[in-house]
Amino acid sequence: MSAQQPLPSHAGAPLRGQRKKIRAGVLGATGIVGQRLVSLLADHPWFELTEVAASERSSGKTYAEAARWHLDAPIPGAARDLVVKGLDPSLDCDFVFSALDSSVAGAAEEEFARAGYPVVSNSRNHRTDPDVPLLIPEVNAAHLDAIPRQQKNRGYDTGFIVTNPNCSTAGLVLVLKPLADAFGLEKAFVVTLQAISGAGYPGVASLDIQGNVVPFISGEEEKMESEPQKLLGKWDGSRFVDAGLGLSAHCNRVPVVDGHLECVSVGLKKIASLDEVREALRNFEVDAELASLPTALRNPIIVLDEENRPQPRRDVNAGNGMAAVVGRVRECPLLDVKLTLLSHNLVRGAAGASLLNAELLAARGFLKQRVAPSGSQLAEPVSR
Ligand SMILES: NC(=O)c1ccc[n+]([C@@H]2O[C@H](COP(=O)([O-])OP(=O)(O)OC[C@H]3O[C@@H](n4cnc5c(N)ncnc54)[C@H](OP(=O)(O)O)[C@@H]3O)[C@@H](O)[C@H]2O)c1
Repeated sequence: MSAQQPLPSHAGAPLRGQRKKIRAGVLGATGIVGQRLVSLLADHPWFELTEVAASERSSGKTYAEAARWHLDAPIPGAARDLVVKGLDPSLDCDFVFSALDSSVAGAAEEEFARAGYPVVSNSRNHRTDPDVPLLIPEVNAAHLDAIPRQQKNRGYDTGFIVTNPNCSTAGLVLVLKPLADAFGLEKAFVVTLQAISGAGYPGVASLDIQGNVVPFISGEEEKMESEPQKLLGKWDGSRFVDAGLGLSAHCNRVPVVDGHLECVSVGLKKIASLDEVREALRNFEVDAELASLPTALRNPIIVLDEENRPQPRRDVNAGNGMAAVVGRVRECPLLDVKLTLLSHNLVRGAAGASLLNAELLAARGFLKQRVAPSGSQLAEPVSR
């Protein structure tokens, strides 16, 4: 199955005893990430797309008119005729995904959360807020315990904000997690080769990137050096405690359409053989709760043995785009182990990541059906 096809149907626990699917809105639905979300929501077993919102350039048009569609599969039928709304927090949905440009995401996400909408965000604005979970379900599902504190701190009622990490951080941390669990992590050094779709649309000018490499992505190295600390750290009941990992990142834009490749060296706390490292990665398996989520993979890391893999063109859609594909596990003369990893920046690093976050929120009873578009009264709670 390609990453652009609908995900498989699952009998969804969150829908037990409910009449209808949970209604989702997508803020920034016309952008590159928003389009992926719209595509992944088609035929989703738990969620139904009922609202799309974007800028004034798009609002008032149908989604088919407003979106400059980039995917191979056509616009899902359920989305084509939806009228694009603005960012007024009065949408007819139970929660929203945010794939908004960061120039507007910060304030808009707060307004939606204040108006009672759970906000499942891709944008960078709230990732490092001290009361906002930065979530990769396979890594730090326990960080969702921060939501009640966030609601109390901010005076939110049913609303809250949960974010997913930056696209290059997502693959890196998924791979670091089993190594941290098995051997402990001291430091990591990473060089990225990042796809142009990571810059949104129109993104990097073709004259800058065609036949070229741009060794600078604004803010990316800072995000890669800070977000893993929160993701691999702990929520102690009142605050997030960083992992205290030594991290250095070099980020480069390369002329690849989709898929971020990362060359990583890691220093481990415990001595491990290369076979033990490969096994720890290969055997990384999610628990039963996560395995029941429609977008989850039971084994989210794929280890390849071929010496010239992973490659973006061949491997980017592995696991419907939700896998981190690892290859070239070998000794590092400076640290302990080095490897190459690949993840789909728009799926594992963005739309698929936030969809998985929403599924975990639904499974834990955080997404509830609203009775009326602007009402705060809720229908029967989603069963856990
Ligand atoms: N691309 C990736 O790989 C990736 C990965 C992880 C996270 N992210 C983050 O996800 C978000 C979306 O990224 P993208 O790549 O999809 O960007 P994009 O293609 O540029 O799309 C941006 C979206 O934001 C909307 N927007 C822009 N200005 C607005 C305004 N003033 N009011 C309301 N809506 C506005 C656009 O609507 P119009 O079409 O109407 O202009 C569009 O829907 C960003 O915050 C980005 O940092 C991206």
